[in-house]
Amino acid sequence: MPVITTIDDLKQIYRRRTPKMFYDYAESGSWTEQTFRENSSDFDQIRLRQRVAVDMSGRSTSSQMIGQDVAMPVALAPVGLTGMQCADGEIKAARAAEKFGVPFTLSTMSINSIEEVAEATTKPFWFQLYTMKDEDYVARLIQRAKDAKCSALVITLDLQILGQRHKDLKNGLSAPPKLTIPTMINLATKWRWGIGMLGAKRRNFGNIVGHVHGVSDTSQLGAWTAEQFDPSLDWSKIAKLKKMWGGKVILKGILDAEDAKMALKVGADAIIVSNHGGRQLGGARSSIRALPAILDAVGDKVEVHLDSGIRSGQDVLKAVAMGAKGTYIGRAFVYGLGAMGETGVTTALQVIQKELDITMALCGGRQISDLSRDMLLIPQDFEGKWQA
Ligand code: GLV
Repeated sequence: MPVITTIDDLKQIYRRRTPKMFYDYAESGSWTEQTFRENSSDFDQIRLRQRVAVDMSGRSTSSQMIGQDVAMPVALAPVGLTGMQCADGEIKAARAAEKFGVPFTLSTMSINSIEEVAEATTKPFWFQLYTMKDEDYVARLIQRAKDAKCSALVITLDLQILGQRHKDLKNGLSAPPKLTIPTMINLATKWRWGIGMLGAKRRNFGNIVGHVHGVSDTSQLGAWTAEQFDPSLDWSKIAKLKKMWGGKVILKGILDAEDAKMALKVGADAIIVSNHGGRQLGGARSSIRALPAILDAVGDKVEVHLDSGIRSGQDVLKAVAMGAKGTYIGRAFVYGLGAMGETGVTTALQVIQKELDITMALCGGRQISDLSRDMLLIPQDFEGKWQA
């Protein structure tokens, strides 16, 4: 058993064990992948301010996100096709999150359905909603999430049309994979994945198949998106969805202070500063660079979270010290899942918690509420001077 000390260690194992089509799906950004890369590399520009002779005893990483106790300010992000990275992937990730004490967010585009995840877990999880043209379907989906006792609705705002990810088009991404000759050759080397999949509860989109009518090919994310996602989503529709849900709402995909102010107006309980992991508008700013202006605009009125680019507990610390109340990991838990199933997700969470804890201590903090911008050395031009 290799010694795993970083998220990258998990990624190396994940890469070996997972079919190329699904590895590429996770490991892609749109267009030139500039934003995908900068989401992580911009974290590296921020340095930490080391402090000494500060009492480090009695530390804790526990905190709260939307009023919910969390073992650390990290939630599992909604990731489409998680159940193709590993058999029953959503169930395994949700179980790992529940045991660890962090929120799990189920994607609309998951493989395991809302009901399957609810049945396999004991605590409420969060549900991420994509809005579709078919209003009845959306209403039924929201009702299903309510029936499953989901404790927050995460509405994604930045994917009404799909950003182009070249690799997915070239690989002919689908769930389940279509058995073309290159795919079969690749699958032949992924026996562990294949055996798992033979026993999987499900190999198609569990929230969609059997719940929608008139869709020509539900196996193809691109085709489904083009046909069904609602390109006319606007703030008035978001307000209606919020009312329909009636519980906590988190708005995901905000990168601009003006949009953050709109989210505040519709009464979001939290917003997620996110560029969808660099998968939508390649060329947009990294999330961590976009964070300060959004915090300045709305940070004292609504809980601000961040996703995109987090690969370590140090990244978590940087985002939280800057002012985010919570963060999300997507790829970082998928690497663990594809490498070792539920144990791999737990390992990813442990790696991140350990990095967060030790870094916090060496920066002079003992608990999450101690984290502040004072602990960071942020380059003067970090946000950049851009001509409007
Ligand atoms: C879906 O959320 C995707 O980014 O593919």
